[in-house]
Amino acid sequence: MSAARLEDQDRCMWVRSLIFCMLARVVLVETDLVHCVMDKGDENESIDYLLPIQDTSVKVQHPKISIEGLDRFSDEGDHILKNVSLRVEAGQIVGIIGPSGSGKSTLLRAINRLWEPPAGTIFVDGEDITKQSVVSVRRRCGMLFQTPTLFEGTVADNVKYGPSLAGEKLTDKRIEDLLKAADLDPSFAYKSVIGLSVGQAQRVALARTLANVPEILLLDEPTSALDPISTKHIEESVLHLNRTRGLTVVFVSHSLDQVRRLADVVCLLANGQIVEVLTPSELDNAQHPLVRDYIAASM
Ligand SMILES: Nc1ncnc2c1ncn2[C@@H]1O[C@H](COP(=O)(O)OP(=O)(O)O)[C@@H](O)[C@H]1O
Ligand SMILES: [Mg+2]
Repeated sequence: MSAARLEDQDRCMWVRSLIFCMLARVVLVETDLVHCVMDKGDENESIDYLLPIQDTSVKVQHPKISIEGLDRFSDEGDHILKNVSLRVEAGQIVGIIGPSGSGKSTLLRAINRLWEPPAGTIFVDGEDITKQSVVSVRRRCGMLFQTPTLFEGTVADNVKYGPSLAGEKLTDKRIEDLLKAADLDPSFAYKSVIGLSVGQAQRVALARTLANVPEILLLDEPTSALDPISTKHIEESVLHLNRTRGLTVVFVSHSLDQVRRLADVVCLLANGQIVEVLTPSELDNAQHPLVRDYIAASM
């Protein structure tokens, strides 16, 4: 191939990248505009205006998340995820259960590129996530962990953090709305994070994640360190966001009761493989011996 032809191809690739970046900016700006419009309500406006409504009624061509033949090996050569495939529809809540060490956290972390999946294995709205910027993937796929990690400062400082990275300054009203959406009283906004209970800190972490206007929430045992009341607060917030905003949720839990309360679909991951997918009402009739053991041990 001639040098001139290569140069033409390079130029073409560069122009394509530029157009892609411009389109990405437009999408971000559009999201923010929807935001601004929605923020212009009166002071008593419901928190239902918090996030743009995600239309789950229209049957789109692509699932919200599609995982196709995902494998992961550790540096030592252990096969951590084995040919995992999973389809999550927009607005669905998917619960992942399974024994410790079965790869649940690894799977969740792959979806927002905390662990980098191979190209062509994870798609959001049909787009390969490895072809998008890490920042945009993490904004679209917000994640909560078992133990919340907050930055020093006030609750509001934490909530403002994500948008500030994108050059956006949140209004006091919006911070209050985000706290309400995470089932936290707005009066917390200017309190120091020092002295918060774990349950309150987890709700601040949820508000901080919501500030990035995610389309997908990834929750890795988000309530396993919390008391039952704090657990209820988090569960109610997640359900409310799912039902009113169409947020897609993938969560890991060791509690079958929680799975029954939240999930539309349950996946059992064992030894790096999805061995059974069923609805919560089918759990009692599960076929796989591990699911049956799991249920028996949870009674
Ligand atoms: N960064 C890593 N390097 C090597 N092994 C890892 C790494 N992260 C996880 N693993 C291993 O992968 C397996 C699955 O881990 P994980 O996804 O945390 O399981 P689970 O969340 O189901 O308990 C475990 O055997 C764990 O030791
Ligand atoms: Mg884990």
